Amino acid sequence: MTRILSGIKPTGKLTLGNYIGALRHFKDFQESGEVFIFIADLHALTMPIDPNELRENSRDLAAFYLASGLDPKKCTIFLQSTVSAHAELNAILQNYLYMGELRRMTQFKDKCSKMNDSEIGLGIFAYPVLMAADILLYDANIVPVGEDQTQHVEICRDLVKRFNHRYGDILIMPRAQVTKVGARIMSLSDPSKKMSKSDPKGDIFLKDDEKTIRKKIMSAVTDMVGKVNYDPENQPGVSNLLTIYAALSDITPQEAAEKFKDSGYGDFKKAVADKVLEELLPFKARYEEIIASKTYVDILNEGAKKAEAVAKKTLKRVQQAVGLLSLND
Ligand code: AQP
Repeated sequence: MTRILSGIKPTGKLTLGNYIGALRHFKDFQESGEVFIFIADLHALTMPIDPNELRENSRDLAAFYLASGLDPKKCTIFLQSTVSAHAELNAILQNYLYMGELRRMTQFKDKCSKMNDSEIGLGIFAYPVLMAADILLYDANIVPVGEDQTQHVEICRDLVKRFNHRYGDILIMPRAQVTKVGARIMSLSDPSKKMSKSDPKGDIFLKDDEKTIRKKIMSAVTDMVGKVNYDPENQPGVSNLLTIYAALSDITPQEAAEKFKDSGYGDFKKAVADKVLEELLPFKARYEEIIASKTYVDILNEGAKKAEAVAKKTLKRVQQAVGLLSLND
């Protein structure tokens, strides 16, 4: 059976980008494979974060996972830090990725471009190693991600080739699966930038209320062309709104453009806001119910046990392969 693994960092308030690029699709995988979904709280530490905020974001993310339709009977949902094999495999795998290749990672370059060396933690540099450990522990075949994370899956594939070449067929080769429409939702105020939790200008947050979401979409940056076309190069703002509409309607941006070709920007934006609200309002209501009832606590505890059983086996396989002495065998 196909193993599928994905996770989101609890680094901030989740955005419509996280929802469209990742969260919205997780539930579909439950029907076709064995799914592991985790809260990447160790990854969240790679940039400075307030401890209370991290705890709150982690609880929120658990509730968002459940609100998105993930069913703990059909998949395993857990907190990364509660399965110690992630950190243990990370300690081994860091010896199989090299400085030169880690330095080339776009996320590292983007996040650290304005920082001095004395401010850059080792964790953000070695982020792809921990991500490789996350993926490889579960023998994952498929890793659903937004476009920005594909490079990290690629480097994980390089690591698997290198490791298996040296030790035999120990690690399973994963592949990234990128969302067809909406793999990169852009900021509403600057459509040249990705909508991102840690750079919240122009973001729609999943916890925003109706009025705020409408206001943000109605004031999204467009252009002087005055016609709704899907043309990311010349009309990036309008194209981003078309992508949002299309992703939530399960159509292509070109089909969405055809639908709005005779509309003015005001009417078009109103239709986009309606579409976003149609999806997010019931989602948010489910999230609020889950947060209030705290059902996520038992689910995460149970998930950690299930995840650990699988992860421990892979860790053991790797430890034996590299020559760590096991005194009990
Ligand atoms: N704007 C986006 N459009 C489409 N997909 C996106 N994702 C993130 N932003 C967009 C996808 O969401 C998943 C979770 O991402 P993550 O939190 O692990 O890391 P990230 O990609 O770095 O997300 P952010 O929001 O930009 O977080 P910060 O700001 O903390 O770094 C991934 O599948 C990602 O592709």
